[in-house]
Amino acid sequence: MAIRKIRVIGDPVLGKKCKPVKKITDGTVTLIEDMFDTMYEAMGVGLAAPQVGILRRICVIDVMDDDPIVLINPEIVETSGEQTDDEGCLSVPGKCASVTRPDHVVVRSLNLDMEEVTYVGDGLKARCILHEMDHLDGILYGERASEPYRDVENDPEEEGEWEEE
Ligand code: NI
Repeated sequence: MAIRKIRVIGDPVLGKKCKPVKKITDGTVTLIEDMFDTMYEAMGVGLAAPQVGILRRICVIDVMDDDPIVLINPEIVETSGEQTDDEGCLSVPGKCASVTRPDHVVVRSLNLDMEEVTYVGDGLKARCILHEMDHLDGILYGERASEPYRDVENDPEEEGEWEEE
């Protein structure tokens, strides 16, 4: 168990495209465990490997109302609907912005045995899956937002909701 350093906006690693995972090594398992530890310690609901400086296609997600999931080489199978809400990111501390995304997503991933698994996400879980997958292609949510980043502190209505992800 280890907490890794979360990279923040301005760090070039956050703008890079990640490479697929080819096999699961002890190092991969440790990375995933550390990603969960780092995410929980920062009180986030998702974390992607580039946020801890590793350019591999791995995300961890725990939106609390469902089992935590690990995405390895995830691919979007389908999306539908639309939702608009404030979003935040552990790599953009203290900020938020309104982002419109699909409300429903089906994603195909590998598990730790390199077997294909499918996950379905609605609402916050869909938003989180899509946000984390964007990180794998070097995209921060601000690029999808309808407005510039705002300070979370200046918007008390939003506090405690989704300021960190
Ligand atoms: Ni993020």
